[in-house]
Amino acid sequence: MNTITVNASRAYEVRIGSGLMDTAGKEVSSLFSAEKCVIVTDDNVDKLYAEAVKKSIADEGIEVFKYVFPHGESSKCAATYVDLINFLAESDLSRSDVIVALGGGVTGDLAGFAAATYLRGINLVQIPTTLLAMVDSSVGGKTAIDLPRGKNLCGAFYQPHLVLCDTDALKTLPADIFLDGCAEVIKYGCLGNAELLEHLEKQRLDFDVDYVISTCVSMKRDVVNGDEFDRGMRQLLNLGHTAGHVIEKLSNFGVSHGRAVAMGMAIISESAQNAGMCTKDTSDRIVELIKSFGFTLNHGYTKEEFLPRFVSDKKRTGSSITAVIPVSFGKSKLFKMTIEDFKQFILTGVETWK
Ligand code: GLY
Repeated sequence: MNTITVNASRAYEVRIGSGLMDTAGKEVSSLFSAEKCVIVTDDNVDKLYAEAVKKSIADEGIEVFKYVFPHGESSKCAATYVDLINFLAESDLSRSDVIVALGGGVTGDLAGFAAATYLRGINLVQIPTTLLAMVDSSVGGKTAIDLPRGKNLCGAFYQPHLVLCDTDALKTLPADIFLDGCAEVIKYGCLGNAELLEHLEKQRLDFDVDYVISTCVSMKRDVVNGDEFDRGMRQLLNLGHTAGHVIEKLSNFGVSHGRAVAMGMAIISESAQNAGMCTKDTSDRIVELIKSFGFTLNHGYTKEEFLPRFVSDKKRTGSSITAVIPVSFGKSKLFKMTIEDFKQFILTGVETWK
């Protein structure tokens, strides 16, 4: 088992290894003097893992309740959030009690936002069960729900008290959901780790799970320690996301987040080489790696459909946007540019990968 300590506004440990769901109770009881616990999970994960986690926590003499919601992004909404915090209140949870978020990114965001706001903050343990949640969303304290106007528009920075990445959960993960997480893994390599990229080039989908998750979490720790509230270097984590979010929206979320990020990384790499910001070799190597995982990279939209959407990007500040651009194989940098310059810059990538 690997343990990585995050030193944000709250210091906490991220454990990575096998069998961690079975020992979750011991971790919870050694960290908190909780009398009650609510496990928040979706209907898919409930069937697979909730009983084991519940037993492990109940064995420590803690009363365990379970809140199960229908799986999928549409549950990350105000109605489910209000229902969940009412459930916490009806279960009579106090501030010394604990919420366990058991599942993927939707569960972590929803339960995390409930933990941030119920009683103005209650103990939170993240037990991510998808690759994407292990390498990215469970660490760093971003919590949110979606509003009709867009994704993650209502949320809080609220660091968890503990993260348990039980790699056994990946064994039951459907292949398409595993692949979504692979896009984020490739992203970490592209933003600052050539060694990780070389490992992925060699191993492809058969990569060393412990090494890859530990490497990504260590990188995320460094980013979050340096910029917890997303004002500077944390924006590096948006590599491929600006174009990716446009594809998600244009497809009405028919293209999953990971696939859209993979397309977004191909677009930005192509634009970077056309603008002379990286070599053709760098761009080709990134694209070959993404393809070798089985991602389809053609998005199917025209520049007329694509370009106006950048104006509504959440990461825009006034009339400028901070672009994350690969400058070599395993290194990306932030560049602030006007929306108009960004549209010119991104155009070649959008057209190449149409
Ligand atoms: N998932 C991007 C971030 O945590 O900042």
